[in-house]
Amino acid sequence: MCEYCGCQSLATIDELTREHDEVVRLISHLRPARQEGGAAAMAQVAREIATVLGPHTQVEEQGLFPALAGDFPEQIAALEAEHRRIESVLAEVTDGVASPDPTWPDRLMEAMAMLRDHILKEQDGVFPAALASLGTEDWEAVEAVRGLAGGALVRPTT
Ligand SMILES: [Fe+2]
Repeated sequence: MCEYCGCQSLATIDELTREHDEVVRLISHLRPARQEGGAAAMAQVAREIATVLGPHTQVEEQGLFPALAGDFPEQIAALEAEHRRIESVLAEVTDGVASPDPTWPDRLMEAMAMLRDHILKEQDGVFPAALASLGTEDWEAVEAVRGLAGGALVRPTT
């Protein structure tokens, strides 16, 4: 991995993209989980989604987004607001147990549909913008946040 050819930026975006892919895969488990095990089974999937999203969101908000907020303040603010909405519904699972609120399963499904759109917005908007405009120092800052935040996926060895 060198800092001159852009491979660091591609590796950073690749890890964020693989996390998106994993989240989308987990979201697809929610409907069958609901049918087979109700809110209790959905809570297990929700916890897995939250495990992937925790460090992922930190890397985006503390690393990637600050480098783009100057040029795209409204878009970044909207994406962060969506992060908060998604987190709040996922946070209704406590110690692996779903919220007793009977509206939670529907609200979770709505939030996860929004998350799918949100992921597309990031991948079609934020990531290409970042690859086009961030410099070496920006990518180093993103990776520094990743180093602190960790990640739920296995990282490829370099
Ligand atoms: Fe993301």
